[in-house]
Amino acid sequence: MDIKFIPTPQKRQKPNFNKLGFGQYFSDYMFEMNFLPGQGWVNPEHKAYGPISIEPSSMVIHYGQTVFEGLKAYMTPKKEILLFRPQRNIKRLNRSSARICIPEVDEALALKAIIEHVKLNRDWVPDVDGASLYLRPIIFSTEESLGVAPSDSYKFMVISSPVGAYYAEGFNPVKIYIEDEYVRAVRGGIGEAKTAANYAASIKAQQIAKEKGFSQVLWLDGVEQKYIEEVGTMNVFFKINDEVITPQINGSILQGVTRDSVITLLKDFGYKVSERKVSLMEVLAAMNDGSLLEAFGTGTAAVISPIGEIYYNGKTLRMNNGKVGPLAQKLYDTLTGIQTGRLEDKHGWTVKVE
Ligand code: COI
Repeated sequence: MDIKFIPTPQKRQKPNFNKLGFGQYFSDYMFEMNFLPGQGWVNPEHKAYGPISIEPSSMVIHYGQTVFEGLKAYMTPKKEILLFRPQRNIKRLNRSSARICIPEVDEALALKAIIEHVKLNRDWVPDVDGASLYLRPIIFSTEESLGVAPSDSYKFMVISSPVGAYYAEGFNPVKIYIEDEYVRAVRGGIGEAKTAANYAASIKAQQIAKEKGFSQVLWLDGVEQKYIEEVGTMNVFFKINDEVITPQINGSILQGVTRDSVITLLKDFGYKVSERKVSLMEVLAAMNDGSLLEAFGTGTAAVISPIGEIYYNGKTLRMNNGKVGPLAQKLYDTLTGIQTGRLEDKHGWTVKVE
């Protein structure tokens, strides 16, 4: 299917690429395609970024039937642009959609739309260390109806934002608050889907943690509140002695692309990686006896986010003297090295935009 191109009458003003923050600025072009009753996905087009019009009765506003993705385009030293494992994000988009009854998009068309989107916005890919163009594909229901049911129409869009570090700390250890009141997901729920409700569910705990001086929340399982699931909006890893442990996929944990890449790199480095249940008690005991050597979050936005302190039950536990651990550093350097074309891509993860 060909994608229509409508040139923008006016380019947007570019921000200072050295002071981007996260998700504050948006590039010139966006992609849009509609799912219509009896027609399926039709009318794909690239056009100027700008407001869209939807009815107040659009189902997404009421019942949140919407999914999203996050992936990045990087500028290499040779001024080529690379995407990191975009096919995996597209597959996950369709899996998230399937969970909440949104019709799948054609994977090849979605990849073409993403690549063309980056090409059209190529001067928005920052040529600055630690920065990239963050791509945000979204699908949402548009039927005008108040009945709780799958919508008969949807919109698929791709927007993009030049970004720097996700956390104000940058690549520095963050302080974590263990959340044992609120949960983000439960067994049989939608935790594994990248859908808005999971993020809405996390905001309150995140706000409380912030007010108490912490950057992120460590999420426990929604059934027993005993096992660790995620940290902030990321997957989480613990290095206890020589074993690197990450919670196993269980339906409520997001199947992170960075998580999968980190597991592969750890195996390349020769580590024993265990995807298994890991209880809060196991982690606290390992902190107390000094066998917890490092902990870090992984995600597209932050890449690797080292954990420096964990607060629980009135006690603050520090690890690695609150400094970036050697493993987190090595993973960050290797992953960003591959993403930006500075290191060999042995696993064929990057896709050149040309
Ligand atoms: C990502 O790491 O891409 C995420 O999904 C986090 C996002 C909610 C900012």
